[in-house]
Amino acid sequence: MSLTRRKLLRLAGGAAVALPVASVLSGCQDEGSTGALRKSDAKVPTLFKVPLPVPPVLKPSRSEGGVDYYDIVQKPAQVEILPGLKTEIWGYNGLFPGPTLATRSERKIVVRHTNQLEVPVAVHLHGAKTPAEHDGFPTDLILPDGGWSGHTMHGGNTSQGSRAYEYPLAQPAATLWYHDHRMDFTGPQVYKGLAGFHLVHDEEEDNLPLPKGDRDIPLMICDRSFTESGAFAYPSIDPSLTGEHGVTQEYMKGVLGDVILVNGAPWPVLEVDAARYRFRLLNASNARRYQLSLDPGPQSGPAFVQVGSDSGLLGRPIGHDEIRMSEAERFDVVVDFSQFPVGTKVSMLNTLGDGDAGKVMQFHVVRRAADDSTVPSRLVDFEPLSRSAATVTRKFHFNQRSDEGWDINGAMYDPEEDQADPELGATEIWRFDGDADHPIHLHLAHFQVLSRNGNEPGRWDAGWKDTVDMQSGKEIEVIARFTGYKGRYVFHCHNLEHEDMGMMANFSVR
Ligand code: C2O
Ligand code: CU
Ligand code: CU
Repeated sequence: MSLTRRKLLRLAGGAAVALPVASVLSGCQDEGSTGALRKSDAKVPTLFKVPLPVPPVLKPSRSEGGVDYYDIVQKPAQVEILPGLKTEIWGYNGLFPGPTLATRSERKIVVRHTNQLEVPVAVHLHGAKTPAEHDGFPTDLILPDGGWSGHTMHGGNTSQGSRAYEYPLAQPAATLWYHDHRMDFTGPQVYKGLAGFHLVHDEEEDNLPLPKGDRDIPLMICDRSFTESGAFAYPSIDPSLTGEHGVTQEYMKGVLGDVILVNGAPWPVLEVDAARYRFRLLNASNARRYQLSLDPGPQSGPAFVQVGSDSGLLGRPIGHDEIRMSEAERFDVVVDFSQFPVGTKVSMLNTLGDGDAGKVMQFHVVRRAADDSTVPSRLVDFEPLSRSAATVTRKFHFNQRSDEGWDINGAMYDPEEDQADPELGATEIWRFDGDADHPIHLHLAHFQVLSRNGNEPGRWDAGWKDTVDMQSGKEIEVIARFTGYKGRYVFHCHNLEHEDMGMMANFSVR
């Protein structure tokens, strides 16, 4: 192939697409988020009415030779998200969020995905150390079971109808998530519902006295907008997702919705005991950032005690009154509802959001209850990486290229080019900067934040991470370990509109 598809598209796009000059929507930008608000046409529901759903835990279809086999069918489903209206979602097993996988560290699993949608998909387990051929590389597509007449990706490892992904899960307990990663179409396909939790457990975690069972709840937070009839209102150039990719010009910075969903329900309510709960917070939004707080706050102590970050448990817990989360980040936190009188309604707010987007969900403290959980002052052995451990330093500039899209070091995503070639097992310092805020995610490698704008890491930067929020004009340095597997992986901005419109690159571990 002489020209990559990306280059061809860019050429074609320049000639053929005559869009009206973008209306400047920066006034609609919620503070802290890069994007434009698509207001819902449907009536937005009353806040704090529906109960919080908790996604079901998927059982293996079979276990054999120490390996658990799972089966997932990706298909459309009609669900009621707004009262009285039906929304078509695309879901793993027809669910949004998808079923939760709960697995054990070091126990291999195989997940067979069957694609009953009308478009290609790719599945990525975000935060996992996965061999490259199973990582959901953006051109490794599963074509629709029912046939596909659109283009495929050159060089991609394409499967017809279904394929099995193998996950060794050689990594400690962590809150991971799986989501679609189809090249150029991740934004709309995740928006339609292709996202779910994957919780890796291990013995170290089992032995900690943290809240367990019904008091360990994953919370997937995302924003959506709805058409009058209740459909998701994602502003794709081609809503069939079979032709031209990307969103209409005014949403190039990101698509913001005005309905906040937690586990797929709008501004839900959770009835809680006056006891400690562990919440695995995930920001699964395409482009919205959140700064979470509790209202009222607890009588004493911090609102949230953080026990884990993206890639596992912390060495020691950290108290926060507010948690700022960029797209794809996870915060594993404990909230102590015994610090509220029974009868209290505690709202979780998003202090970055305007209007109803400033509210997320509500907890109703309904009863006293026994609680033998605690948050110990030491959690797991944590090895801080020192600067001197790094053998290579690389620099990446995240840049907007006028209205064409987004790039890294001057290049829009090309699946056939590498921008880095770390050695297997190497420790490297990667420096990121840019002229807008970007949540930056590395596949395979976990990292620690070394500095922000020449200063100490921020208060939300602790622990092993796979995604970090870089702020405009302020360089961030991370120290990453490229352990695991050789092969080609991506790193990218996790604002999904930026990702789809070029802000992604490859590195090959050699
Ligand atoms: Cu969560 Cu490359 O993605
Ligand atoms: Cu990832
Ligand atoms: Cu970005």
